Amino acid sequence: MSNLSRRNALSLGVALGLVGAASVVPAWASTAAADPWWVWDDEVDRLMAGVLDTGGVPAVNTALRSWVDNADPLPSGLPADLAAWLQGVNRLPSWADPVKLRRAADFNRRKDTYLFVLYGLGSGIMSTVIPREARSVYWSAGGAAMQDRAAKTFTFGYDLSEAGAFEPSGQFVVTANKTRLVHAAVRHLLPQSPHWRAVADERVPISNGDILVTFHSLGTFVHRKLKEWHVPMSAADEDAFLHQWQVAIHLLGVRDEFIPQTWAAADTQSAQVLTPLLAPTPEGKQLAADLLGLTAQIDLGVTRGFLNEFVRYVLSNEVGDWLGLPRDYAAATLIRTGWPAYIAFREGLLPIAPAAFHLFDQFVRALAMLFLNKGTSPTSTPITIPAGNRPG
Ligand code: HEM
Repeated sequence: MSNLSRRNALSLGVALGLVGAASVVPAWASTAAADPWWVWDDEVDRLMAGVLDTGGVPAVNTALRSWVDNADPLPSGLPADLAAWLQGVNRLPSWADPVKLRRAADFNRRKDTYLFVLYGLGSGIMSTVIPREARSVYWSAGGAAMQDRAAKTFTFGYDLSEAGAFEPSGQFVVTANKTRLVHAAVRHLLPQSPHWRAVADERVPISNGDILVTFHSLGTFVHRKLKEWHVPMSAADEDAFLHQWQVAIHLLGVRDEFIPQTWAAADTQSAQVLTPLLAPTPEGKQLAADLLGLTAQIDLGVTRGFLNEFVRYVLSNEVGDWLGLPRDYAAATLIRTGWPAYIAFREGLLPIAPAAFHLFDQFVRALAMLFLNKGTSPTSTPITIPAGNRPG
């Protein structure tokens, strides 16, 4: 979908009252100047371009290493202008609600089983059929080292989901800011990659619109699946889960006026800007093979056929076909009947454990361990700024 048609789709949604359900018409609906696909992160993009062009990345990465907790002071050793910029953004937005954020952390703990499965096998694999994301990730430095990259992404999810993530003792605000710096670096680096330029449909990657698309592949997708799977959630839980994501994408540099105010608005936006653009690319197929290969290295207690079918179950057969995941019809039947029963039993809605309970239980526990170990590395893999692109 071109930028223009995306904008039209969004504007139409606003006109119909489907988007921006808080009845505040977002500014970007009316002016092309404030179109999320034409908004990047100008100030830090300029600062990171300066760091990259003067060979300053190693020094910045060294400085960032000791900056971990939300309450940590900014590290010394950063260029003064970058430090000043970070000082301004390294805080929660004024509208962040600590009660909702605490509730979200509790929700993440209570529903962690499903969240591991949905973020890991759902959102993670979906990212490979979002063409812009797949091409960017593949042609950036991290695309050549998927194990390391997956571990860094786990760090983000882990820091977002832990109790107290947004509090002074938590780490998410810092992790989000480091990610924002990585994205700014990528905006300067990828346009210099002849490989990326040859396949990209944009000049500069990771606009606000692109970040919203990825948010829909994460938060909006997970929320929708939890509903589809009849996982019990109170309205306050759902609201808290949305709020956590609203704060997260604010910290990643998305302008507040673009951030969906309700799940209904998010679902509508997702149907307009995520679902229609899902498609296979050579880069995405390779990334999916890498990711599923990594997962298969760990003993999840299930066959590769089961894993492939779980991805199909969570995402769709269409996506499974795009990625060339071989069929295993016996596993597919087991999942189709066993997984809903597993959920119902775990949630106290079925009196007797279903036959395949232990298989599913072992599977989700193994996925959880993978996540809690932040990938295959037992220690945390720090998020670092790349100094170049994937060579070829
Ligand atoms: C890096 C998260 C949106 C492309 C990262 C990292 C995290 C992250 C945690 C640092 C880990 C690493 O270096 O690999 C997110 C989240 C997003 C988002 C939570 C939205 C909610 C996007 C979008 C794109 C993108 C929309 C492209 C279309 C990249 C690339 C890297 C990166 C290319 C650098 C990989 C490298 O090290 O070479 N992102 N991201 N991200 N992200 Fe994102």
